[in-house]
Amino acid sequence: MTQADFVVVANRLPVDRTPDGEGWRRSPGGLVTALEPVMRSADGAWVGWAGQADVDVEPFEFDDMHLVPVTLAASDVQLYYEGFSNDTIWPLYHDVISPPTYKRAWWDAYVKVNKRFADAAAAVAAEGGTVWVQDYQLQLVPKLLRELRPDITIGYFHHIPFPAYGLYSQLPWRKQVLEGLLGADVIGFQRVADAGNFARAVRRQLRYETKASGILVPDAEGGTRVALAKAFPISIDAESYVELAQRPDIQQRAREIREGLGNPRKILLGVDRLDYTKGIRHRLKAWGEVLEDGRATVEDATLVQVASPSRERVDAYMQLRDEIEMTVGRINGDYDTTTHTAIRYLHQSYPREEMVALFLAADVMLVTALRDGMNLVAKEYVASRIDNRGVLVLSEFAGAADEMGSALLINPHDIDGLKDAVIRAVDMPAAEQGRRMRTLRRRVREHDVEDWSRGFLEALSAFHGRSSRAADAEVEAGTDDDQADAE
Ligand code: G6P
Repeated sequence: MTQADFVVVANRLPVDRTPDGEGWRRSPGGLVTALEPVMRSADGAWVGWAGQADVDVEPFEFDDMHLVPVTLAASDVQLYYEGFSNDTIWPLYHDVISPPTYKRAWWDAYVKVNKRFADAAAAVAAEGGTVWVQDYQLQLVPKLLRELRPDITIGYFHHIPFPAYGLYSQLPWRKQVLEGLLGADVIGFQRVADAGNFARAVRRQLRYETKASGILVPDAEGGTRVALAKAFPISIDAESYVELAQRPDIQQRAREIREGLGNPRKILLGVDRLDYTKGIRHRLKAWGEVLEDGRATVEDATLVQVASPSRERVDAYMQLRDEIEMTVGRINGDYDTTTHTAIRYLHQSYPREEMVALFLAADVMLVTALRDGMNLVAKEYVASRIDNRGVLVLSEFAGAADEMGSALLINPHDIDGLKDAVIRAVDMPAAEQGRRMRTLRRRVREHDVEDWSRGFLEALSAFHGRSSRAADAEVEAGTDDDQADAE
């Protein structure tokens, strides 16, 4: 059996079935791009689900990666993926924007499927190797893996927010989840605030001591080891966006998009998975009111809203789709003319080339998430703006806001504030656009996804196996600003 020194475990494999159902193709997500260099240099394997129920596939090689499919039966998809992952954890961790459902049968399935992923990772990891677990679908894997394979180094990265203690404590299985995560040597979060929320939950629920970013975890031998819980904000492969934006055919496509919309003076753009965390309703409301107030007409500006299909069998997502589509229909019915539209709504996903053409065509990018781990679309937009033009309107509730202070930061709940920001963005002089965009682009290009994975993996190799005393010195010297709260 193939053994790998470096193993990624994620709910999804980095490939999808080709439309004919025969072959495989790279899935669009950025994680594989991020990890590709490490995967290649370290003889890497990737453990994950192929995205279809009841499909049993043997491990196979793809693009120099060893892929290990984990089979999910239709009931696992329903209970573990749609249920516990996306109807319990997802809404709870996004500040209960949609009410989470707590069902014991879903939890049982989550435990069972997490064991399956941990078993697959344990089987493929080489002696003394490194396993990097990704995201909220697999929070129990670090502990399960440590029990099976104490020889390996375990990292975990949490791509979504970690909620404040008052919300987290609703979870009936709150202790088990914390213990699951603490099986890792390093637990990475998007924001300093997420790492702080996690540390606080650990102190309150498990009564473990924390020191700066270190958490003292009792180990199986009666000693203590230190787990590091810290922010490692994720990024994108910025250079690949720059290269696409430089292509004449893509620039031409951007002009075609503008013409296809009837050459409005400005184009506003929203790009999201169709998810209730993204604040699409708030954005539509603000734009509808701007038109209603007569502060803009459809000749002045069109909003292009790409809402890619997501989790379509989960109730909250079906309801959201109905609401959004009704709102779009109403606004368009009221304001469209035969030549111009208020909102061009696209319930579709597009290849990267088309997305970059859209970014180049868009004068204003609207990111109005109510809560978002990071929001990579904000980074993709600025990376693509090689002309240093365009305005990013960014929710302060997206992780990206921590790094992108030169955007127009907004509170999406404040509809009047959002409307003012939209008008300000539409009217922003070129010089100010350039000043802001240059600062944003510098940050994204310097801190790209390779920088992210390198930073995480360096912390992981530095931290693994530290005795509690050696690690003490390290955490004392830590620079993080999340302090233990007085309780
Ligand atoms: C978010 C999550 C990812 C997830 C992605 C798409 O970005 O952090 O873990 O893969 O959404 O959602 P899906 O349910 O289709 O995998």
